Amino acid sequence: MTEQEYKATFSRYLTATEQRLEALCDAYLPAGRAICDAARYSLLGGGKRIRAVLTLAACELCTGSAEPALDYACALEMLHCYSLIHDDLPCMDNDDFRRGRPSCHKQYGEATALLAADALVTAAFEVVANAPLSPESRAEAAAVLSKAGGARGMLYGQELDKHFETVKASESELLQLHAHKTGALIVAATDLGCAAAGKTGAKREALRRYAAEIGLVFQIVDDMLDVTSTTQELGKPVGSDAENDKTTFITLYGLQGAGEKARTHNDTALAALEPLGENAAFLQRLAQELLTRKK
Ligand code: IPE
Ligand code: IPE
Ligand code: MG
Ligand code: MG
Ligand code: MG
Repeated sequence: MTEQEYKATFSRYLTATEQRLEALCDAYLPAGRAICDAARYSLLGGGKRIRAVLTLAACELCTGSAEPALDYACALEMLHCYSLIHDDLPCMDNDDFRRGRPSCHKQYGEATALLAADALVTAAFEVVANAPLSPESRAEAAAVLSKAGGARGMLYGQELDKHFETVKASESELLQLHAHKTGALIVAATDLGCAAAGKTGAKREALRRYAAEIGLVFQIVDDMLDVTSTTQELGKPVGSDAENDKTTFITLYGLQGAGEKARTHNDTALAALEPLGENAAFLQRLAQELLTRKK
């Protein structure tokens, strides 16, 4: 896959996601009331849409078309956005910027932000329930999304993240934390693509292994950017982890050591794709992008 083909594919996924998110917001979060306005402000106000892209790419890899997975991809972005709104609240990371703008609670107040996030997560499940796919697929997608987002997935990661503000984590504890806090939704991304494609078996498993590894890379790089980047470039405050006394790969191994760990997990991710051959070229290239991203 050439650079140009990679960029064109990414941009096709991105455009489809943005357009569908607008339409879904009009259906489920109509503008004009504070909660919906706040949810739309956070959801439609940027974001890299990596999770949606992964869902669409996984579905296309399995069926030759990304389209069946579009609503699942959007539902996942809604759930992810809810997690970001809560993550920024004063009782969590207490961050005032997100996606280049004041965070939801800074713009709308804490109560509205809390409810807007709740509205996003419930809308996500409504989107899945009404997606134009078989009842079996929709039930499966709801199970994937709730497990990945819930108390055995992302929320457990957030619980560990808070816990390790006061207690120092070991590497294996930190890997657990990252695997849940960030990895769970990234694994859900490829899994939802497979659920839309009706795909089970070895291919789906390989994609899960790939996603779990790039999930770790993604959070290690996020922690590195919190130290090396600028608020302007990232669109969210840098130095947030140090301010909250988080244990990260940087506090454990330094910047260079964290970079090496990220490369190792990236290698494992690429190895997981090997059995998928040429079809996985986009996902290979995406992993490289996530490893070297600057925002
Ligand atoms: C931020 O996720 C939270 C983490 C899990 C590190 P992203 O970096 O994907 O945030 P957006 O969606 O692009 O804003
Ligand atoms: C957040 O991790 C992961 C979530 C579940 C939202 P971070 O707290 O590091 O994410 P950022 O840096 O605020 O985006
Ligand atoms: Mg956090
Ligand atoms: Mg945070
Ligand atoms: Mg961070």
